Amino acid sequence: MELIDFTGIATGLATFVIIGLFHPIVIKAEYYLGKGCWWLFLAGGIAFAVLSAVIGDRSLIWSTVSGVVAFSSFWSILELFHQEKRVRKGWFPENPARRTKYDFDEQVPRRGTNSYKWDNAPDGVLPLWVADMDFRTARPVTQALQRRVGHGIFGYTKVPDEYYDAVTGWFGRRHGLHIEKEWIIYTSGVVPAISAIIKAMTVPGDKVLVQTPVYNCFFSSIRNNGCEVVTSPLVRTADSYAVDFEDFEAKASDPSVKVFILCNPHNPAGRVWTETELRRMGEICLRHNVFVIADEIHCELVYKGCRYIPFASLSDDFLGHSATCLSPSKAFNIAGLQIANIVVSDPETRAGIDKAINVNEVCDVNPFGVIATIAAYNEGEEWLDQLLDYLAGNYGFMKEYCGKYLPDFPLARLEGTYLVWMDCSLLGMPSGKLEEDLMEKAGLWLNAGTMYGAEGEGYMRWNIACPRVRLEEALDRFREYVRTCSRNL
Ligand SMILES: Cc1ncc(COP(=O)(O)O)c(C=O)c1O
Repeated sequence: MELIDFTGIATGLATFVIIGLFHPIVIKAEYYLGKGCWWLFLAGGIAFAVLSAVIGDRSLIWSTVSGVVAFSSFWSILELFHQEKRVRKGWFPENPARRTKYDFDEQVPRRGTNSYKWDNAPDGVLPLWVADMDFRTARPVTQALQRRVGHGIFGYTKVPDEYYDAVTGWFGRRHGLHIEKEWIIYTSGVVPAISAIIKAMTVPGDKVLVQTPVYNCFFSSIRNNGCEVVTSPLVRTADSYAVDFEDFEAKASDPSVKVFILCNPHNPAGRVWTETELRRMGEICLRHNVFVIADEIHCELVYKGCRYIPFASLSDDFLGHSATCLSPSKAFNIAGLQIANIVVSDPETRAGIDKAINVNEVCDVNPFGVIATIAAYNEGEEWLDQLLDYLAGNYGFMKEYCGKYLPDFPLARLEGTYLVWMDCSLLGMPSGKLEEDLMEKAGLWLNAGTMYGAEGEGYMRWNIACPRVRLEEALDRFREYVRTCSRNL
């Protein structure tokens, strides 16, 4: 008998090699072909076991290979049934081959798709205005929609329990916001939601407080409900904006101010309000009995170093005296599917808002919005994380570009949203005129700052949610325009 069993060592090594080879191969195959690969792997293992029993060979190599196959089959079962749970619990690291790599550099043509942003822009004009993105949404969302389209019947839709589970699950998991299913009122968008909440919480002639510059539709929603807009302008800091709390309290203390619309993250100032700021605003509102509408539509779009804190998560009083508007539409680029949620914990307030939603006839949603929301919140996290990295990269790129070639056009610090606020006052031109001029002479469509209130005079809003080469082209056009202006000065 030999002292060293070379055959045993060789087969042992082979075992490791085979296990080591098999597993990544099947994971790769799964990436392209789906979970069925694990069933095939398992079926192969069973076939091998049957063959082994029939042949009855009991050699060392044969039994080692049988062991490997049995191990792999067992692994397949684990993969099929418990994979995500095990990775989430940290028992196994996530296999990089399993991560879908999304390509945000792809330039998907949008002209001819009835895109509001692109098909309203004259030929040759690069549109960086309306707040939607030039990226395809997450693959799980398109796949879920395709399955629904395949069914071919698009009658009135019911909002299933799965929808509420997806919304409450996402906000609990990702943002630590506890939402009861009963607190949710779905509707066809955040603007319809805000309009209905104003209707429920005011009577014509009341006043509604906003922090300018701010999202333009707030103004129309307030006025369409017969109310008056009261502004507490944000104050400029070195590279951003802050709340003037003295002014805010002075405005909120007017007894006719009944509602404050909080925008967090703030469009277009790019701020993500800190806990201290939110608490101070909330306490002032409580003190003066001002109801808070928290528009948190951009809440997923927050960059490293900042944290989205749901207003309603800060205290029971804040929760009870507010309505939070949420939607997957901005972050997952599904605004055209028209769906949003209002979270209201107080039953009486909720009944009032529900009534206003019905009076305004915005109580029905479409099947695609429902399906897309479920898929986005349940399966879209990986895509969203990659999107955030890409958008942060775009902002970094723009900052560097402007630092180098447009140093006199400062950008507000971007803590959240994909909307960049640029100070163009050096050109000495009204923003509205600049918007027209840029479109005509530079082939570039940006939003005039004055859309967001008088405080936006001299500013332009850039939508940077596009492939980086497109952003670079837009910056080149802007730079060339500035060069021409300076030559003519
Ligand atoms: C702060 C804010 N609220 C609401 C909306 C629009 O919401 P929806 O399309 O759901 O009506 C936008 C769109 O840009 C926004 O920036």
